Amino acid sequence: MKINPLIKFFGLAALAVASIASQAQRRSQPEPAWAHAAWMNQSLSPDERADLVLKQLTLDEKIDLIHGEGMAGWGKPKPNAYLGNGGAGFTLGVDRLGIPIIQMSDAAYGVRSSAMNGRYSTALPSNLGAAASWDTDSACQYGALIGRELRAQGYNMTLGGGVNLTREPRNGRTFEYQGEDPILAGTLVGNRIRCEQAQHVIGDIKHYAVNDQESGRNEVNAIISKRALQETDLLAFHIGIQIGNPQAVMCSYNAINGDFACENKYTLTDVLRNQWGFQGFVVSDWGGTHSTEKASAAGLDNEEPGEVFYGDAYKQAVQDGKIPMSELDLHVHRILRAEFAAGLVDHPVHKSVVDVFGDLAIARHIEEQSIVLLRNQNHQLPLSAASLHTIAVIGEHADSGMLSGGGSAQVDPPGQHSPHWGQHVWFPTSPLQSIQAMAPKAKVSFASGSDSAAAATLAAQSDVAIVFVNQWSSEGMDLPDLTLPNHQDDMVAAVAKANPHTIVVLENATAVTMPWVKQVSGIVVAWFPGSDGAPAVANVLFGQVNPSAKLPITFPLSVADLPHPKLIMPPPHSEGAAPVQRHVLTSPTFSVNYDEGVKIGYKWYDAEDKPVLFPFGFGLSYTTYNYSGLTVTPGAKPTVTFTVKNTGSRVGVEIAQLYAALPASAQEPPKRLVGWSRVALNPGESKQVTLTIDPMYLSIFDEASNSFRLVPGSYTFMAGGSSQSLPLHRSVTLQ
Ligand code: BGC
Repeated sequence: MKINPLIKFFGLAALAVASIASQAQRRSQPEPAWAHAAWMNQSLSPDERADLVLKQLTLDEKIDLIHGEGMAGWGKPKPNAYLGNGGAGFTLGVDRLGIPIIQMSDAAYGVRSSAMNGRYSTALPSNLGAAASWDTDSACQYGALIGRELRAQGYNMTLGGGVNLTREPRNGRTFEYQGEDPILAGTLVGNRIRCEQAQHVIGDIKHYAVNDQESGRNEVNAIISKRALQETDLLAFHIGIQIGNPQAVMCSYNAINGDFACENKYTLTDVLRNQWGFQGFVVSDWGGTHSTEKASAAGLDNEEPGEVFYGDAYKQAVQDGKIPMSELDLHVHRILRAEFAAGLVDHPVHKSVVDVFGDLAIARHIEEQSIVLLRNQNHQLPLSAASLHTIAVIGEHADSGMLSGGGSAQVDPPGQHSPHWGQHVWFPTSPLQSIQAMAPKAKVSFASGSDSAAAATLAAQSDVAIVFVNQWSSEGMDLPDLTLPNHQDDMVAAVAKANPHTIVVLENATAVTMPWVKQVSGIVVAWFPGSDGAPAVANVLFGQVNPSAKLPITFPLSVADLPHPKLIMPPPHSEGAAPVQRHVLTSPTFSVNYDEGVKIGYKWYDAEDKPVLFPFGFGLSYTTYNYSGLTVTPGAKPTVTFTVKNTGSRVGVEIAQLYAALPASAQEPPKRLVGWSRVALNPGESKQVTLTIDPMYLSIFDEASNSFRLVPGSYTFMAGGSSQSLPLHRSVTLQ
């Protein structure tokens, strides 16, 4: 992207002046009393520093640290509301001791509510979209960008980091998560958090745990065996925490096996603390706290966004001896410790200006790595601009923008004040313009697609028809099914009938069913593509970028094939439906029994022998790859090697995947992903891939010993380009 040098000069000059002015202002302030306090010694550990602060605190100051100070539109405004930064919530600091306020903002795919503060945020591709890159470096860039933009806007804690597994693809928040495989999802979210927190914001992983559907999320009881829980949803969190070391875990709204997640001793203490050694703090989802003593004893450290249970009620419980002071101290210690560990105390936030152009380029690059090519009949793609005279661009808003995901994840598009909940927000990144820019000599015409006949007529008159279809979703809702809404299937079928050169581009929240799959020549998954999505899509369509991404979720043939063909809904007129009423519930009102257990996504379709539309791990390229020479070296950490060759004529990146089948006695689905590598290859080039497998990835959770263990026996390792294309097999015995 070219930036006018004058704008760049004046922009940088303005920044320099602003920064000198704010430094001077800071310098002119008298040094605070705490500047040389013992806890400001950076050579001490976060634990030591937290303990030194803890000793100074009064009971009231301790209570202030364990709850939020309200949120706009949520109950009565709190007296401290003016101290907030405009985000989802904040927790007071201790000014006299140099402990800052924790200013929290949602930031799933970018910083939320920036327009309200007169600011700008970059929207990255949806979390699910970015997961299709299988790229830990992209995940790191993703997190670092959000961390920088959070600080620039005055925040020091993110509420991003969603990693609930796609157990239920109709879940309206699927786009906020990282797909259906615990190892892929956990690795990616961990790398996002690692780099986000490196910017000195408290990192967060959520929604802990099994918040796998939105319908009745405040009152649903997820019933699941310990083994299935440990090997699926919890495994993703565990890996994310190991890699990212987030200083906060957000417990979810739902209950797990009878106890609400924010007062669930098993998940909050037995697993999170004792099994995994987590040292940060647990923050409740907004209104997800249901008690004082039970929640505190179970391991909840901080109630958000208010103080229904962790304000006066908590203080009273301490004074009455119902909660020991040591328990309160433990919660406070964890919160203070997190502030030191993430660098909030040593690197206070100062608002600054976001690098709009630099961050747009990152957003586009990540989208280019996230676009999945699902179908390419007769090498329809990449398009050759020189041979196209007429191009039809069809679809809702395809002339002006691309769709984004809603709910608390929603990023404000430039020029639009905070969109209302439920609004479908289109970012001003125009497919029509980007396609025209790629084919400047072609006549590029637009039809909205609302009239199928008109769209088909335009398609019939064009060399190629590019149809943009969409599927919106949001927090607080689930999709009724995976069908494209508003008769878009009929429209695609009509266009495809009129023109055999029809390419469908999906702007999708989750998996989509495609009754027209065999009638179109190309299918491209763009997900919710972020602020600079259209140029990224055009780059793939015209071959400036060779697609490399692979599906992080299965696309089933029909919802009838899902483990739960019908979504299980809450009882009518249930109490907890209104957000502010959530906390009044003392127990869940209905259950979803996840009796499919460990069989999530491809593990389900494999085990049940059900064909799918497009399998997990699938994605085409403009080049081709060949796999050979699989060897396995057993040991405490088995090592697997194989060779990938680029057999086509274009430079490409192949996401080479490794799966393992466990011994029959393990009673596991036919295979699980245990590793992968993104292999960049020139035409004709070969590279050897070496993957060292974490033994936990080959283990099962043994309920009797309450631990992961390797089942001795024969393991088959399989390598290839998707979960259903695994040409290499080798079996070894592991003890
Ligand atoms: C969502 C969280 C979010 C919080 C604050 C809740 O409704 O479930 O993901 O971080 O609100 O906006």
